[in-house]
Order: sequence, then C-alpha cells, then structure tokens
Amino acid sequence: MALIEIKDISKHFGGLKAVDQVSISIEKGQIYGLIGPNGAGKSTLFNCVAGLYPPTSGKVIYDGEDITGWKPWNVCRKGLARTFQIVKPFQKRTVLYNVMVGSFLKTSNPSEARDRAMEVLKRFNLADKWNILAGNLTIADRKRLEIARAMATEPDVLLLDESMAGLRPNEVDETLDEIRKIRDSGVTIFMIEHIMRAIMTVSDRITVIQFGKKIMDGTPQEVANDERVIKAYLGESYGAA
Ligand SMILES: Nc1ncnc2c1ncn2[C@@H]1O[C@H](COP(=O)(O)OP(=O)(O)O)[C@@H](O)[C@H]1O
Ligand SMILES: [Mg+2]
Repeated sequence: MALIEIKDISKHFGGLKAVDQVSISIEKGQIYGLIGPNGAGKSTLFNCVAGLYPPTSGKVIYDGEDITGWKPWNVCRKGLARTFQIVKPFQKRTVLYNVMVGSFLKTSNPSEARDRAMEVLKRFNLADKWNILAGNLTIADRKRLEIARAMATEPDVLLLDESMAGLRPNEVDETLDEIRKIRDSGVTIFMIEHIMRAIMTVSDRITVIQFGKKIMDGTPQEVANDERVIKAYLGESYGAA
C-alpha cells in the first residue's frame, strides 16, 4: 500500500478548478516530483494535502488513515511537514527561534526543543548563524531555514514547494544533496520544483499537471520524452532554466 494516496482531489475557487480530480500514489521512501506550468495548481494541491485548504472533493489517505480536511497542525503532528513557496520565517526572530518553532511540535520542554533545534541547524550548516535574525539571511539560507524548520518537527514526509527557486546552480546542487540525505534518513519526499534539471535528477517518479488536471505520471525519463509534457511545459521551462 502507498504511504500517501491522493484520490481524485479537486479544489475549486468559485468557478476556477484550480485542482481537478488529481490522483497520485506515493510510496514510502520515494522522492516524488510534481511539475507543471505556473498556475497549474501545484501549490493548491499541496495545500489540500497539508490541510491549509479543505479539498472541494476527493480524499487524502496517509498511512491508511483518511486525513482529508484535517487542520494543518494535526497533519503535521501526524508526520507530514511542509515548506512554503514564499518563505515566511519570523523575520525579527533568530534562526534558532524559527527552528525551535518546529521542534516544539515534539516536545514542550524548552531546553530540549533548543537542543533538538541546534542539532537540526548543524545538519543544515546553519549552526554558526543561530543568532542571526531570519530576516537578515540570504535567500539560500532562508530556503535552508525553511527546510530545517520543517525537519525539526521530525516528519515522516516532507513536502517541499519550490525550495530551489532563486538559488544559484551550485546552491541548487547543495540542496539536491540535502534532499537526498533527508530521503536516505527515511523521510519520504513530495516536492514541487520548477527547475527541471533539479527535479529530473532527484525524483523517482513525477506527476505533471496542467490547468489543474493530471497530464501523466512516470519516471523522469518517461516524463521528459512525453509529447504532451513537452508541449505543455518542458520547452518553456528548459528554456527558462
Ligand atoms: N486562495 C486562492 N483563491 C483564489 N484562487 C486561487 C487561490 N490560490 C490559488 N488560486 C488560483 O489557483 C490556480 C492555481 O494556483 P497555484 O496552485 O498557486 O499554482 P502553481 O503552484 O502550480 O503555480 C491559479 O489560477 C491561482 O490564481
Ligand atoms: Mg506554486
């Protein structure tokens, strides 16, 4: 049985079908990619899985349990953590504080939360910046902080929404290494990424959506060679990347 079963999920905003009957199965231990042109409905689908929006219809089954419409904090407590496309750290708080927000999910003891947060910061090469205000970080460090905060909740599944947007090629490579390490530590990853090179090299499987609908899913190679995908997306995006 798949770890995450997204079954016929739709999300309508008034007359707009932002997500239209999308189904995706993600196996434990996979890195699963979600791609599609801007406005395709990728972030909205994430929001339905992570509990930010209740879907209009359809179901999200996680580890055999129906979590459709659960509140974000309950989804997170269940083991699914997410990052946001627009990173929103507490700007006026330190890096450490921001990550402690994550570690408080698993402990109510402040000194333990602090220790766990420092461990995570070390893992993401942010330990020496623990005392910097989040608002003063570079984009790359802010993106890393966002992943660190999600990882501090000790999730089983990590949802990454364009964690590499705005990064330089060498920073993209570093992030890819981090993502692989996270996967190797036993965390299943569901990621949206606009940078084709990145998502193609790291994903086990990819779903492509356009205008809210699933066009296809397959291995990165199958996706890259699919006529519909090339038409819908790849030409544009390879050009941009
Ligand atoms: N909260 C919202 N209210 C109304 N429309 C929305 C909302 N969120 C997203 N949309 C619309 O839904 C569509 C899909 O958006 P989004 O999921 O952000 O796309 P993607 O992440 O693939 O770029 C877009 O047309 C967007 O304008
Ligand atoms: Mg988006």
